[in-house]
Amino acid sequence: MFYDLIRPLLFSFDPETAHEAAIAALHWAGRLLSAARPPEASPVEIMGLRFPNRIGLAAGLDKNGEAIDGLARMGFGFLEIGTVTPRAQPGNPRPRLFRLPEARALINRMGFNNYGVNALVANVKAAKYKGILGINIGKNMGTPMARATEDYLAAFAEVYEVASYVAINVSSPNTKNLRQLQEASELDQLLARLKEAQSQLAEQHGRYVPLALKIAPDLDTVEISDIADALRRHLIDAVITTNTTLARDKVAGMPHSDEMGGLSGAPLLDASTAVTRQLAQELAGEVPVIAAGGVLDGADARAKIEAGASLVQVMSGLVFRGPGLVRECVRATAAMPEPESPSESG
Ligand SMILES: Cc1cc2nc3c(=O)[nH]c(=O)nc-3n(C[C@H](O)[C@H](O)[C@H](O)COP(=O)(O)O)c2cc1C
Repeated sequence: MFYDLIRPLLFSFDPETAHEAAIAALHWAGRLLSAARPPEASPVEIMGLRFPNRIGLAAGLDKNGEAIDGLARMGFGFLEIGTVTPRAQPGNPRPRLFRLPEARALINRMGFNNYGVNALVANVKAAKYKGILGINIGKNMGTPMARATEDYLAAFAEVYEVASYVAINVSSPNTKNLRQLQEASELDQLLARLKEAQSQLAEQHGRYVPLALKIAPDLDTVEISDIADALRRHLIDAVITTNTTLARDKVAGMPHSDEMGGLSGAPLLDASTAVTRQLAQELAGEVPVIAAGGVLDGADARAKIEAGASLVQVMSGLVFRGPGLVRECVRATAAMPEPESPSESG
């Protein structure tokens, strides 16, 4: 309701200025108000973690972990911050974020603008939040693809002590060639090295931090099957479906539809849910699926769970619907049954 009133004001600014204002407001709300507890609506246990409800914040809204306590007040069952890279980097030149209001969609080509992993870890340590915190990691733009693994390993080691889980982002369309890490042989190598690092870090810190792989929606069914195999083989703890899309068919002809970058919001819903459904079927509970893409209301969130997801993340929907979206989705997914476990599905 309140958001309906202030939305025209926010939308009168360019999207990135509105975003910066929202992060600053959330930062101060979090500092000035007492710690928040998420609504406990049918908790879900996956990756060895207990999620108080099924609705989380997707990566990219709070890249540096500056607004954790403010975001926690919205009622999320978990937050994912980042993508963070080992070193600070400015990202692509502005403008790099566009609204397509008639489609309830965004196009972004931010390019992993962030203050670097050390700044993020310091922000996490300063936060009051005690809930589940995923940290999404990526590679610096200046790191050659041949050395990409080193960036993931460096970021993983730095965030390990403060993360509930770590998401490996190989699916942003805005870092040149990043998505090639989703191809079988490259993915195999990356996952093997990260799992090796995970064992060492678990021993060193006395705590196992799960790894989730975040993938693109722009994959064919064979590529998705190959990814399912890799997730199983490497005992990856979860998969996040999906990042933004390069497809533009649903927004053709609209202002900004030709901007380069990833499309998110309502037009992504069906394509993203299709990836969720295929992976959930193939993985049959062995690796849980976290769904993101086009959730604009409670019914969309339910559709993700019905497709086999254990948890749902939202991002663009917050821009168009405001913070009330979170509690609406929490309520809509609260009474839904757990996805089948492998033993139940045979
Ligand atoms: C402005 C913007 C920035 C994003 N940045 C990231 C990012 O840094 N890392 C990431 O994994 N996904 C990023 N995403 C993708 C979202 O996490 C999410 O996967 C995608 O937008 C689909 O969900 P939605 O339709 O609810 O927005 C970004 C999306 C937007 C709109």
